[in-house]
Amino acid sequence: MSARALALGFAALLLAGPAVAEPPAPEAIVDAFEAVLGPITTYRPSHPKGICASGHFVATPDGARHSVAPVFDGQRVEAIIRFGVAGASPRASDVARSTRSLAIRFETSQGDQWDMANISAPIFGARTPEMLVAGLLARRPGPNGQPDAEAVRRFVESNPESTRQGRWLAAVTPPASWATTPYWGVDAFRFKGAEGQERLVRWVFEPVAGTQRLSEEEMRARGTDFLAEEIRRRVAQGPVEFDMVLQFAQPGDDATDPTVAWPDDRPRATVGRLTVTAVEAGAGGPCDGISFMNLDMEPGVAFSDDPTLHARAAPYAVSLSRRTR
Ligand code: HEM
Repeated sequence: MSARALALGFAALLLAGPAVAEPPAPEAIVDAFEAVLGPITTYRPSHPKGICASGHFVATPDGARHSVAPVFDGQRVEAIIRFGVAGASPRASDVARSTRSLAIRFETSQGDQWDMANISAPIFGARTPEMLVAGLLARRPGPNGQPDAEAVRRFVESNPESTRQGRWLAAVTPPASWATTPYWGVDAFRFKGAEGQERLVRWVFEPVAGTQRLSEEEMRARGTDFLAEEIRRRVAQGPVEFDMVLQFAQPGDDATDPTVAWPDDRPRATVGRLTVTAVEAGAGGPCDGISFMNLDMEPGVAFSDDPTLHARAAPYAVSLSRRTR
């Protein structure tokens, strides 16, 4: 069954009510977010700060060659886009050394839909969904409102992979704009091409404006809330663009561990361009009702064996149902 069918089926089961017995895992994952952040009311438990935008995507001829999915047929595909900031709250700081995000819903003229969520780091902070949940639960606040430092230390000691993303982020300053950072899909997918070939890939959306990060001085001067106005001004002056670039796995590259990036010298292909043409005036907008759950897009884009990828769609549906109930 495809991820889309699984997620939609799960959402339908939720709507059908508690009589339907389902494995507890997706609920338990969202419970773990709530254990740290408190009950989900309106905001996403992950990347709660953000704004909604719109635009379009057009695949390159290389895109059509590497995937037979409708999104890559070279026609204009409408896009609903959400730029976000990682953190626990919608007031998260724009200068924090955390990830920024680019979530996209592609809508083809034939009515096909494809969702994805990308981040401004090439790696994730958990190798498996179990590690994600254990890491969240270790950071549950105690009676004093703080996590138990000893529990966090024990978790980190037994899950060293979970520190890789934090170390990557500590080594760079945050992006100067939502328009000036690459956004990685992180999880690996299988692209099925026009000649029947199937290749393991990861993708990155490269900013056409180039990568620009804040200086240490700018981090102090910019304030905690500048990204939304900056991108509105920028898009008002002209479209903001990103090239979608595939990176192809070579023998030995691990497609199941999102805490490890593949080497930079892997072959690459530019498969399309995303153009952002409008930004909503306030927070929210059409993105509020969307959960950008990473999906496959059969027949041309299939899941790899990455366990975090398989664990994403259903909890995203649970989270959406909790924040929109
Ligand atoms: C076990 C794996 C994962 C789980 C359980 C998980 C869970 C979640 C949940 C519950 C949400 C909120 C969804 C909503 O309310 O709409 C979310 C959002 C998000 N996740 Fe994940 N996630 C996982 C892996 C990843 C990975 C590997 C990435 C890296 C690309 C990622 C990036 C994001 C982003 C960017 C958002 C916010 C998207 C938006 O703007 O709506 N997640 N995640």
